[in-house]
Amino acid sequence: MLMVPKNLYFIFVLVIILNLITIRVSQDILSPIICDGNANFTISSTYENNLDDALSSLMSDTSIRYGFSNRSVGQTPNQANVIALCRGDIEPVDCRGCINEASARIRDTCPNQNGAVGWYIDTCMLRYSNVTILGTNPDTSRVRELINTSNATNVDQFNQALNQLLDQLRTEASSGGSLRKYATNNTNGPGTTRIFGYMQCTPDLSENQCYSCLDSAANAIDKGRRGARVYYPSCTVRYESSKFLNDTVDLAPPSPPPTQSSPPPPPSSPSGKHLLDTFNLNYAT
Ligand SMILES: *[C@@H]1O[C@H](CO)[C@@H](O)[C@H](O)[C@H]1NC(C)=O
Ligand SMILES: *[C@@H]1O[C@H](CO)[C@@H](O)[C@H](O)[C@H]1NC(C)=O
Ligand SMILES: *[C@@H]1O[C@H](CO)[C@@H](O)[C@H](O)[C@H]1NC(C)=O
Ligand SMILES: *[C@@H]1O[C@H](CO)[C@@H](O)[C@H](O)[C@H]1NC(C)=O
Ligand SMILES: *[C@@H]1O[C@H](CO)[C@@H](O)[C@H](O)[C@H]1NC(C)=O
Ligand SMILES: *[C@@H]1O[C@H](CO)[C@@H](O)[C@H](O)[C@H]1NC(C)=O
Ligand SMILES: *[C@@H]1O[C@H](CO)[C@@H](O)[C@H](O)[C@H]1NC(C)=O
Repeated sequence: MLMVPKNLYFIFVLVIILNLITIRVSQDILSPIICDGNANFTISSTYENNLDDALSSLMSDTSIRYGFSNRSVGQTPNQANVIALCRGDIEPVDCRGCINEASARIRDTCPNQNGAVGWYIDTCMLRYSNVTILGTNPDTSRVRELINTSNATNVDQFNQALNQLLDQLRTEASSGGSLRKYATNNTNGPGTTRIFGYMQCTPDLSENQCYSCLDSAANAIDKGRRGARVYYPSCTVRYESSKFLNDTVDLAPPSPPPTQSSPPPPPSSPSGKHLLDTFNLNYAT
């Protein structure tokens, strides 16, 4: 008589564990991390202390305004350089939360590597290295791509509209100035469909560096899908067949004269976390 409830209990626990594993895996697909395997530090070394100082300084930075922040702690060859970039529609408080999450996960995934880069559910990117990052040429050797495996209907027309959108976004994002290089827009696809897109560079890149990074990303991205994303350490491209950015948030610098009226209520579009349930993703390197 006792065996039945015990077995049921066991199965129940097993189901919960399997569910947790599934959620963990889905989040990891949406939050790719690349460790730099070429250089390792030893635990409790000067470099590790510098890195942890730089990360905690960045995580407690309440002055992040336009989504980009950087820290450098220590001297060569133990200097830890950290940068973080949040998507252009992410409020500073959510940006900081994202950087905290990303930092914990990356340190967990890359316990003793000098350098790493990770993207956290399309909300922020965190990158560090003992080599200077700011202002250096965009790194297009490391890339992660996420693809919605559903194809667009009428692929040729879709891609024609998509390419025009990407061309416009590339020009606009790269000319964005030293505080923010971010652009978003949408366009008509075939029939009644719409295509939503965005591009963003780390704003320390020059206009030409940003343009060339986005050019590589726009060439690399899988076209003709319902949606796809390409993540480089220095720039990001994404398009979707439905709205995915929060357009009630406008964080564009330089700050325009303060608006007197209160912002309109936010639309009930899905947040990033809902993507975990609905987005059928392929993970390609
Ligand atoms: C660094 O450490 C990782 C494991 O943490 C190992 O796979 C890699 O080979 C190491 N690289 C070097 C250059 O020692
Ligand atoms: C890097 O951070 C420092 C403060 O830590 C700031 O003064 C500087 O403007 C930042 N550089 C860029 C390119 O954002
Ligand atoms: C970064 O660390 C590696 C491994 O410790 C070292 O060989 C290299 O010289 C360092 N580079 C800089 C710029 O400090
Ligand atoms: C989507 O398109 C790709 C190539 O463009 C093709 O390989 C794949 O089979 C298509 N998928 C579906 C579900 O039609
Ligand atoms: C968005 O794209 C349309 C064309 O589809 C263009 O007319 C418009 O200028 C673009 N908006 C911005 C802000 O660039
Ligand atoms: C958009 O941003 C506002 C302000 O941060 C927030 O209150 C709202 O929940 C966001 N909407 C979505 C759909 O994420
Ligand atoms: C991915 O494609 C499916 C099928 O067309 C669609 O239902 C879903 O909304 C897409 N995901 C996103 C985030 O656009």
